[in-house]
Amino acid sequence: MSKIVLEQLKNELINGCSKKGHPFRYFTLATTNNEVPRLRTVVLRKVQDDTLLTFYTDLRSVKIKDIKNNDEVSALFYHPKKLLQLRVQGKAILETDPKVIQSLWTGIQPNSRKDYTTHHAPGSFINSPDEIDYLNEENYFCVVHIAPVQIEYLRLQRPNHVRVLFEKENLSWKGKYLVP
Ligand SMILES: Cc1cc2nc3c(=O)[nH]c(=O)nc-3n(C[C@H](O)[C@H](O)[C@H](O)COP(=O)(O)O)c2cc1C
Repeated sequence: MSKIVLEQLKNELINGCSKKGHPFRYFTLATTNNEVPRLRTVVLRKVQDDTLLTFYTDLRSVKIKDIKNNDEVSALFYHPKKLLQLRVQGKAILETDPKVIQSLWTGIQPNSRKDYTTHHAPGSFINSPDEIDYLNEENYFCVVHIAPVQIEYLRLQRPNHVRVLFEKENLSWKGKYLVP
């Protein structure tokens, strides 16, 4: 039975990056500077190889500083119509293969490339939103994967809510039901 739930959650994640308007397209990513948790919304770009999740960011962003210091991250997905929540814990891995990075960069619309080419690092103070300069040649495009080690599924429904904790053991997922 928990295998069916696992397949369901994998499908929802895949739909998140492939189906227009699916609420898993955006998720909340938590990193830590080892003192406080830091949360932000990112776009789910790809799901592959047994739930490996991919997002893009600027190499100079605070989340990358956090990840370089502590690669343990959490991700939160919420589907409001299905009242479905996924809480993911995993390790963040920065993509290093220049061929992979280049091929993904080529697939980004020219206007969206601006997100990774600001002259100053994201989070720098400016006087007005019109004051942003962009680089022509250089970019700080960064591809980050999250390899989940734990996924907690919670679906609120009648007569009983369903909460299942999946943990990765020896490359396979083991599911245990929890009191919701
Ligand atoms: C709808 C939405 C989607 C976003 N997607 C991304 C994204 O895919 N990658 C990203 O780095 N930031 C994205 N952001 C911006 C982040 O939420 C965050 O503000 C920014 O990355 C700086 O975070 P940091 O300083 O914690 O690194 C998005 C914000 C919103 C509102």
